[in-house]
Amino acid sequence: MKKITKAVIPAAGLGTRFLPITKAIPKPMLSVIDKPTIQYIAEEISEAGIDDIIIVIAPGSDIIKRHFGAAPELEKRLLEDGKTELYNIERQTQKYNITFVEQNIPNGLAGAVMCARPFVKDEPFALLLGDELLIKKDGEKSCIKNLIDIYEKTGKSAIAAMEVFGDDVSKYGNMGVGEDFGEYFSVNGIVEKPQLFEALSNYAIVGRYAMDGKVFGMLENLTVKNNEIYFTDALEVLAENGELLGYGFSDDRYDVGDKFGYVKANVELALKNDALKEQTKELIKSLAEKL
Ligand code: G1P
Repeated sequence: MKKITKAVIPAAGLGTRFLPITKAIPKPMLSVIDKPTIQYIAEEISEAGIDDIIIVIAPGSDIIKRHFGAAPELEKRLLEDGKTELYNIERQTQKYNITFVEQNIPNGLAGAVMCARPFVKDEPFALLLGDELLIKKDGEKSCIKNLIDIYEKTGKSAIAAMEVFGDDVSKYGNMGVGEDFGEYFSVNGIVEKPQLFEALSNYAIVGRYAMDGKVFGMLENLTVKNNEIYFTDALEVLAENGELLGYGFSDDRYDVGDKFGYVKANVELALKNDALKEQTKELIKSLAEKL
């Protein structure tokens, strides 16, 4: 069975929802506590046992390359000052094997995936959207690791499913639920951001995918709509062919592409951070009394 050895992170969005910060700082560099969101995703990939990462960036995002690159002056200074813990934190940013590729035309998710094609070479790959942080529960496998395992076991592409209700249904791609295999289920249909009455189920597509390499050829052959090809259209074809599986994950998920989701990620991760949790708890309690 084919193995997944590469991961793609589309991270070329303009981040206009976060203006003015995204005027000069690329959105993937926004930090949750002390780490840019893109590094959380690199860590998630590395923990899933994948070494090769392809990050699709917008032109002018050199600061992302700098973040993951060498910093000899800073390292020298930290070592001279005996700050080994900070030195190790800095060194962590350099342990990933990353290929950067620019997406020159902002033509959506499918366009970003196509930019990664020369590096993935039509092999199967993991796809992780940069706007979503998934933090696995202690002692459990992460969502992306489970998706990779499902792909490697079945040879079918696998996507992450999250239950949503009401207005939230229309914010996501939506999947129809077919046969239940216990750990995962077959996806028998896909609609991108449906109105509530068009939804196939309460399962939304979340930004984690384990894809067969054949998706590249499918994307190439899809009809262009509004100057864009839609990644979800390829998922729809896979679903129709019985080649798509869904997996309900247990990781905590934060939509850091949304302002409130971003605030929530900072507060909740502060509560999980040994150095910050007690102070954060006290702050929340005292704020709650005033509400
Ligand atoms: C994309 C996908 C959508 C999916 C979502 C997950 O939409 O097109 O199917 O549900 O990511 O975050 P976007 O959020 O880029 O509009």
